[in-house]
Amino acid sequence: MNKVVVGAQWGDEGKAKITDLLAQNADLIIRYQGGCNAGHTVVAHNKTFKFHLIPSGILYKGKTCFIGAGTVILPEYFEEEIQGLIKEGIDVTGLKINPLASITMPYHTEVDGYSESTATKGKIGTTKKGIGPTYTDKMARIGLKIQDLYSPELSEKLDIILPLKNKTLKEVYGLKTYTKEEVLDLCEKYAEIFKPYVCFDWQKVLEDAKRDKKAVLFEGAQGVMLDIDYGTYPFVTSSNPIGGGAATGSGYGPAMIDEVIGVAKAYVTRVGEGPFVTELTDKTGDKIREIGHEYGVTTGRPRRCGWFDAVTMKYAVLVGGLTSVALTKIDVFDTFDEIKVCTAYKDTRNGEIYTSYPTDVFIHKYLEPVYETHKGWGQDITGIKEYEKLPENAKKYLARLEELLEVPISIVSVGPDREQTIFK
Ligand code: GDP
Ligand code: IMO
Ligand code: MG
Repeated sequence: MNKVVVGAQWGDEGKAKITDLLAQNADLIIRYQGGCNAGHTVVAHNKTFKFHLIPSGILYKGKTCFIGAGTVILPEYFEEEIQGLIKEGIDVTGLKINPLASITMPYHTEVDGYSESTATKGKIGTTKKGIGPTYTDKMARIGLKIQDLYSPELSEKLDIILPLKNKTLKEVYGLKTYTKEEVLDLCEKYAEIFKPYVCFDWQKVLEDAKRDKKAVLFEGAQGVMLDIDYGTYPFVTSSNPIGGGAATGSGYGPAMIDEVIGVAKAYVTRVGEGPFVTELTDKTGDKIREIGHEYGVTTGRPRRCGWFDAVTMKYAVLVGGLTSVALTKIDVFDTFDEIKVCTAYKDTRNGEIYTSYPTDVFIHKYLEPVYETHKGWGQDITGIKEYEKLPENAKKYLARLEELLEVPISIVSVGPDREQTIFK
């Protein structure tokens, strides 16, 4: 069975924990989009590992881990991450990079920084890792791919790209321009960084795995509500975290995918700007943040917290292509008397009720959540390993979420560790 792990909210749902668990039974793990904007945490062997670009499956020896064509790679950050893993004694020989992946150049991070500075209106609250500008250049067909670093035609490509790039850097952003020599020097350095990992015969590796019916796990970053096409645009990232993104970003088509597992927290968090109808700016929000340790892995920013939003989640089931849900962090509610779930939005202008997600996010400021309230379970569930042993109120709560979402909750996570997982 080939599975996709997709974030079903605004990222940080606990995808890496689920990817790590499912990677045990996978032969090939492919990260299909995003870049080092991601911050993925895996807790195993009493150790905490943080990943940004490298697939979480790398912790198992002997697996092939691909950084797919749909990703963007910031070379210096990649090198730092690799060196960190090697220092921890992790075997990284299974890591491969698809040569079609895009490269984040220094001017991409500089443009991201400028766009997020006080010089502009309408900040997104990005991770400032150059993600948007790298994908922009890719789509504008003036980006550099990993394979370009080893191409005898690199110089010719730069003759096309650089004049355009420099014109926008100077005239639009008022930023530093780059000489061809500077870029060639950077490319030489990057070629060295990537050399041990670039897989020029990736087609053969993928073909062989397909023929031999190897188990493939597609690893997503970010989440459905940050998707460039379906998320809370413009407050999104610049790639397709949805299940469909696995087909474009991995090198395999949709027929390779058997299951799409959407990872969602029992509440919602978001970092950066953008609408968030169930956001709690009160003590309850603070309580969730403190118990759930909701601080960004990549930027350290406190995450905005709120109640579970079944309206966006139902939308995520549809556009994310989810076939089941892994619900994480329900243990965060162990001390809560009441737990709320948003089942609809009410428009404060005219009282209109939305049970489907309204995609024009500029009206979200007029929306307030309609909640139903569930009784808490008042006990520590972090050691429970079987579904049947969960307290009745927790089971009732999970059953209600399944009813609302119309997909099964196949995995329930009750703590950060690999062991703290219930397969239903
Ligand atoms: P990702 O980006 O989706 O991989 O998620 P992050 O790593 O950014 O954030 C999830 C955080 O929650 C990490 O610190 C995980 O170790 C932690 N975590 C994952 N699952 C659970 C769970 O079921 N309970 C608790 N308490 N923490 C969890
Ligand atoms: P993981 O994989 C949460 C958010 C940023 C910002 C928006 C655009 O750990 O779930 P970008 O730098 O991508 O251009 O920023 O997207 N964002 C994330 N939020 N988790 C992530 O990754 C994120 N990656 C990007 O905060 O709002
Ligand atoms: Mg994260």
